[in-house]
Amino acid sequence: MNQTEIISHIIEELKVEFANEASGHDWWHILRVYNTAKHIAEEEKADMFVVELGALLHDIADWKFHDGDESVGPAKAKALLEKYNVSADVISHVQDIIKTISFKGAGAVNEIKTLEGKIVQDADRLDAIGAIGVARAFAYGGFMKRAMHNPDIAAVAHQDKASYYKNQSTTINHFYEKLLLLKDRMNTGTGKIMAEERHKFLEEYLQRFLEEWEGKK
Ligand code: ADP
Ligand code: NI
Repeated sequence: MNQTEIISHIIEELKVEFANEASGHDWWHILRVYNTAKHIAEEEKADMFVVELGALLHDIADWKFHDGDESVGPAKAKALLEKYNVSADVISHVQDIIKTISFKGAGAVNEIKTLEGKIVQDADRLDAIGAIGVARAFAYGGFMKRAMHNPDIAAVAHQDKASYYKNQSTTINHFYEKLLLLKDRMNTGTGKIMAEERHKFLEEYLQRFLEEWEGKK
């Protein structure tokens, strides 16, 4: 099977597996990240096959939904890729992307290493900001039964992944704890440019939300 065929087979598998996902990590999120990552990879001249696989498999088993176990995603990816006889080098590169892609708190260091990983991380982060980012934040908040907003609960700058992981805060606080921080943490030039507009929209949205909350508008 050639690379194009492998990618289309994996796409078919993921469409089925993620069809009923309701936490904001559904098939359409994967597809958006895949398309954005490909666009950035063309601009940044990266290894397209690794970027495509990394984007398609980046959420295959998110640590948040496996009691913090970060080994499930890389193991699932390996089993899937071995089925298609993908080379060991590519498999370990994709596993490394899956292991290191996630945001883990305002003060936690970003562990992403390679250009391909940086591209997939940028694409994933772009889908967390802008109009889609707002929708996903409230979808996730509803899924986790979180309040939209509570002015009595302050946002926190989490210093490590353990405290970020335990966080039960409101969706509006998530804007301050993660979403507004992403623009300045983009890895690639292309990603940075794309993040600007989306970030502006987040700021406008928050301003309106808080004005309406207080009955000012
Ligand atoms: P990452 O891939 O960086 O780990 P996440 O899996 O944390 O991203 O987030 C997936 C989506 O769910 C994003 O759009 C994110 O903003 C949203 N999300 C994650 N945690 C929260 C939260 N506590 N409140 C609201 N939205 C959240
Ligand atoms: Ni994702």
